[in-house]
Amino acid sequence: MDGRDRLRRYLEQRKELGESDLVLDGLSVEELLGVLGARRGAPRAAESMSGESQTRAAIPEGGGASRRASTGAPMPQRPAEQGSPQQPAHLPGTPISVGGPIAEAAAATFAAQYQTLDAIAAATLDCRLCGLYETAKHAVPGEGNPSAQFVCVGEAPGATEDETGRPFVGDAGQLLTKILAAIGFRREDVYICNVLKHRPPGNRRPAADEVVACKPYLLQQLALLRPKVILALGTSAAQTLLQTSTPIGKLRGQIHRFYGVPLVATYHPAALLRNPNWKRPAWEDVQLARRVFDNLAGNQ
Ligand code: URA
Repeated sequence: MDGRDRLRRYLEQRKELGESDLVLDGLSVEELLGVLGARRGAPRAAESMSGESQTRAAIPEGGGASRRASTGAPMPQRPAEQGSPQQPAHLPGTPISVGGPIAEAAAATFAAQYQTLDAIAAATLDCRLCGLYETAKHAVPGEGNPSAQFVCVGEAPGATEDETGRPFVGDAGQLLTKILAAIGFRREDVYICNVLKHRPPGNRRPAADEVVACKPYLLQQLALLRPKVILALGTSAAQTLLQTSTPIGKLRGQIHRFYGVPLVATYHPAALLRNPNWKRPAWEDVQLARRVFDNLAGNQ
């Protein structure tokens, strides 16, 4: 891989994390990628920016010792307008607090009619609120302990999830299972779901109108579960829940509030598979989430 390829890979990773700006001669990531695509003979400096320093993989690869033992309403209508929600960016390092009581947020949407997780799941099977049902094989509503106090929220089903109808069961899901085990949770202790309940074709990023259409299901899931802690996995989950355009790299490492519920954001497991350098910060994040959970559990 020459310097140009390594720089492109680095920039694509930054973009994947939701970053649009780099301090690089005043060019944005898009502009620089355009330049790289158009010009061969890229800057040699790229070779030292490749991010390939071999940081120790901090997340254990094996299942860690378990510290604590522990799944016919009317069709919702497509919203009249599917606009792109304009999300503000927040000051880096500033925890975000979204909303008041979560039940109120969920109550304002069509999904409030679903009073159990099973009812939400059933509704997603027939959902036509966006076009994704046309290409997806199965809806993936979410699964886990209906009394879970720790909820993981990802982006959207991938190929394996689409085949099986279950969240996080492909390669990224297997890593998530190991990460959870490393902080003392079995999958059946927690609840795992996504922002989108149908797979975007080719695993592309969720479109804004798809998020707008699908978010009420997630809000209602969270309103019913009333978790102690939410772990937002990746840019889409973190930005959707926190209503921000701030990049994941600046959202992670803190305790935000989602309708009063502590929310820790971290890198998506799929991103960790692509870039092991993010395993260390992700490990710190999930440990933080576990500590918050333990503190709240201990206080009740
Ligand atoms: N990635 C996600 O965000 N969710 C899944 O369920 C699988 C992969």
